[in-house]
Amino acid sequence: MNRYSKITAAFIAGLFFTTLATTTSAQSKINQDSIAQKMGWFEDAKLGIFIHYGIYAVNDVSESWSFHNKQVTWPAYMSQLSGFTASKYDPTAWANLFKEAGARYTVITTKHHDGVALWDTKEKHYDVIRNTPAKKDLIDPLVNALRKNDIKVGAYFSLIDWSHPDYPGFLKDSSRYKVADDPLRWKRFQGFFQNQLTELSTKFNPDLWWFDGDWEHSAEEWESSKVRTNLLAKNPGTIINGRLQGYGDYETPEQNFPVVRPSFRWWELCMTTNNNWGYRKSDTNWKTPYEIISIFVDAVSNGGNLLLDIGPKEDGTIPNEQVNILKELGKWNRKHGESIFGTIGGIPQGHFYGPTTLSKDSTTLYLFLHGKTSGPVMVKGLDNKIKSVEVLGNGTKLTSKVVGKISWSPVPGLIYINVPATTLDTYITVLKVKLDKPIKLYRGKGGLG
Ligand code: GLC
Repeated sequence: MNRYSKITAAFIAGLFFTTLATTTSAQSKINQDSIAQKMGWFEDAKLGIFIHYGIYAVNDVSESWSFHNKQVTWPAYMSQLSGFTASKYDPTAWANLFKEAGARYTVITTKHHDGVALWDTKEKHYDVIRNTPAKKDLIDPLVNALRKNDIKVGAYFSLIDWSHPDYPGFLKDSSRYKVADDPLRWKRFQGFFQNQLTELSTKFNPDLWWFDGDWEHSAEEWESSKVRTNLLAKNPGTIINGRLQGYGDYETPEQNFPVVRPSFRWWELCMTTNNNWGYRKSDTNWKTPYEIISIFVDAVSNGGNLLLDIGPKEDGTIPNEQVNILKELGKWNRKHGESIFGTIGGIPQGHFYGPTTLSKDSTTLYLFLHGKTSGPVMVKGLDNKIKSVEVLGNGTKLTSKVVGKISWSPVPGLIYINVPATTLDTYITVLKVKLDKPIKLYRGKGGLG
């Protein structure tokens, strides 16, 4: 169950009598109820902004991996510390932009695998206050600006710390030591990262924790159970992503769009806006606003969230292409938000050749038209009467036609909705279909059976 929450998995499978070592079956049931409750805002949020901000923005190299994979030496990588200024850092402008995009939460790298902390850590290791010309805590003012804008605060924290002298892993194919050979040294590292987590949790009280790098060690080695218990003791409502060796609340399929609807209840697709998480001058392979919006819609229609990544430059400015993507996404969200935020995933593919969502009471079906689809669009197996169809955000009422319905047969007809080209959105058009009652789908064989 790599990167998969045993807790969530057990819930989905209905296996309340989980064998999870630390819980009895009764406790596990209670946990599931409280998990479902605390996931409420996350379920409705749909859009988060992921921020990879760090010294790797200085020299056009990939975050942490560039030295780990030996593309640059570790000293060369760390020399970026002296070029990291955050001189134009404006967290209020960031928060305003995220708000404008329609994001309900953000996740910022408090520390990536390179070990450089962006907050004022008391631990003697690398941080941007003491080791860079930025000389300031970058997390604190952002948290304040986000909370002022009602945007939930997520803390990305890399468990891996390739720069720490007590961390076993370092460069690809080489490690400093093995945990089994020097348990005391590993204990020191555990003390270090647990202290950093306590600092972050006390100082910022994140609404969400986004762990990364759990794959290098086991749940026992990461003390995952203790990490979870401590964070929840501080904030029982905090949400933990699924990269804690089985102790998280939701799944994070990275860069990978699920082809069929995932079976896990809560999930979030994290996705870059070009081909890198952090800023790289040389990476100009930007996704278009249309591509981003279609990925977003697909995630939501499949019951998930999108955590869309941006990589600010070392001075704290966000590249123009990313600003543009966020603004266009925001424009689209303002027009079509009703079909996205607070909805639930749509109907199985095959009923409609495109993404769909439903209102929570499932009496309204939203159909998303990819590309420039116009003319008659078809819905199959819908055992409801249609009260009205309108082009969302545009108000145009459309007519629908039922084809092939025999009055005495239980088989519903095919529905055709005629969409004039003049009503199409620049990116993705949404049809709002109001039904007579909660949606009922027909998936039978036809005839009287
Ligand atoms: C990965 C990478 C990392 C990136 C993250 C984002 O696991 O290690 O560089 O921060 O995914 O999801």
